[in-house]
Amino acid sequence: MAFIELRNVSKGFGPPGPNRVEVLRDINLSVRESEFVAIVGYSGTGKSTLINMMAGLLKPDAGSALLKGAPIKGPERDLGLIFQNYSLLPWLTVYGNVALAVNAAFKNWSRKERDQQVRRFVDLVNLTPALEKRPGELSGGMRQRVAVARTLAMDPEVLLMDEPLGALDALTRGELQKEIAAIWEKQRKAAVLITNSVDEALLLADRITPLNLGPGATLGPEFAVDLPRPRSAAALNKNPTFTRLRGEITDYLIEIGRAGKASTNDKIVPLPDVRPLDPSERASRTWVS
Ligand SMILES: Nc1ncnc2c1ncn2[C@@H]1O[C@H](COP(=O)(O)OP(=O)(O)OP(=O)(O)O)[C@@H](O)[C@H]1O
Ligand SMILES: [Mg+2]
Repeated sequence: MAFIELRNVSKGFGPPGPNRVEVLRDINLSVRESEFVAIVGYSGTGKSTLINMMAGLLKPDAGSALLKGAPIKGPERDLGLIFQNYSLLPWLTVYGNVALAVNAAFKNWSRKERDQQVRRFVDLVNLTPALEKRPGELSGGMRQRVAVARTLAMDPEVLLMDEPLGALDALTRGELQKEIAAIWEKQRKAAVLITNSVDEALLLADRITPLNLGPGATLGPEFAVDLPRPRSAAALNKNPTFTRLRGEITDYLIEIGRAGKASTNDKIVPLPDVRPLDPSERASRTWVS
């Protein structure tokens, strides 16, 4: 049974009428409990829009977003979203940023229980030495770790990740990929990862679906990732299934990219043939007053 689901969802932006731009069209995505699904696609195609509807931050124009069969009415604790930008509060420390989420999620817990929860998740992302630092004093990778700890510490039922590692350098990104894989394998929650990296998707997901180009982007075919867990980037590189899947998904993305460019070219309006006046012709003109 679907744990979280988008059913026949379409979404656009702008005023109703001809100027409204349709971003997503007829999206069907269903994620089972303890399943990890990745969406890959080009920039600006609607990936954040898609995951924001699952997080209850945007409402579909048509169709429905469902959590365990019930319509998602708005953001809630069970829908844990890790944003594309870190979105930490700059005046709070690492402890303070995570505590804010924990306090909101577990109002009935004792002060001691909440304190333990904050420390446990800060530790999980290896930030205990930075507990009292503010975001301005942290590297990009460390800020992203705080964002991951903050969401996980709320113990959401669904983990929604919008390109959580996109802004990081390759080494830090690799490290955090490993952490996310390890954490997810311990918890096995329904997870959706938006990424622009096919390798990252193959490392983490059970299933990968490309988002086609818009306007009115639809989801492409589903690629099942039948690779044993735990996975490591080094081992995967030698795995023939990994190589085949990487080839297939990359080819698909290149193909939709090419088709998208071709269709954009079709829309170019030919300009009239405008040439500057011949200077000698201009000189012979007389002004009419
Ligand atoms: N609130 C909004 N109002 C108007 N247009 C929007 C809004 N949010 C997104 N869009 C437009 O919708 C399209 C899809 O945006 P979205 O952020 O979902 O893309 P994306 O795939 O997440 O891109 P990226 O990979 O760069 O993060 C873009 O053309 C964007 O300009
Ligand atoms: Mg985005």
